[in-house]
Amino acid sequence: MQDDYHWFQSEIFKMTGINLALYKEDQMRRRLSSLKSKHGAASFVEYHEQLKHSPKLLEECLDKITINVTEFFRNKQRWDVLEQTILPSLISGKKDKFKVWSSACSTGEEPYSLSILLSKHLSDVDYDILATDIDQKVLDLAKRGVYPDRALKEVSDAERKAFFIERAGSWAVNDRVKQSVRFRSLNLLADRFERNFDLILCRNVVIYFTDAAKHELYGKLANALNEGGVLFVGSTEQIFNPKQYGLEPIETFFYKKIPY
Ligand SMILES: C[S@@+](CC[C@H](N)C(=O)[O-])C[C@H]1O[C@@H](n2cnc3c(N)ncnc32)[C@H](O)[C@@H]1O
Repeated sequence: MQDDYHWFQSEIFKMTGINLALYKEDQMRRRLSSLKSKHGAASFVEYHEQLKHSPKLLEECLDKITINVTEFFRNKQRWDVLEQTILPSLISGKKDKFKVWSSACSTGEEPYSLSILLSKHLSDVDYDILATDIDQKVLDLAKRGVYPDRALKEVSDAERKAFFIERAGSWAVNDRVKQSVRFRSLNLLADRFERNFDLILCRNVVIYFTDAAKHELYGKLANALNEGGVLFVGSTEQIFNPKQYGLEPIETFFYKKIPY
């Protein structure tokens, strides 16, 4: 078959439920072609045949699709803005639980960063952090919560002391950090969302999506926010014309849901 990539897309959907048609094609095709060549497959049909018979290769392929790179307090300056400017106004006068969602949480550094940050401003019972990802493997790692030193480069010495336990050169988040985070599997491009969030983080994932998929997602994320709630996006992911989703920019990479 001359170009069997689109056929491969639909086979991957059947095998994994991931719809590659909603991911930017050039990028994804390049990444998957390099894997296909690595395993000596002459076509996507041949590569698919290999995937069918090897859970290990399928796992490698999923890793390539999902890209899980992350760290604690990624783009630290934005987290400083979150702590100093956004959070105080979000939590002031809040009577019920402060509800937060880390919507593509990868191996857990992002929701645990939230847990560390919120524990400094609220008592444990006053907030709830939902952390979701499409990739079960990263969720399992996230639940373990053990990290190499390089993941903590933005974590201060005082925070290391207060929120981590050092184990043979690795850093485990302590129970206090863990207990406020609920990990769940969720596909941002297919599943229903919980609602009534005060803060949603959707960072470093939409870069892989097509414009149409992004558009639908932003509408759904805005819907999941409380009035006055804030969407925090990644540092290359500014939203074009946020007003169409009922959002207004309040700081770079932060959008507030405006009342109807
Ligand atoms: C680069 S990581 C971002 C992690 C973190 N948000 C950050 O900014 O450091 C991207 C994550 O998005 C997840 N992902 C990719 N497609 C997804 C989808 N359709 N629904 C939910 N998560 C998805 C991947 O599994 C991966 O863990």
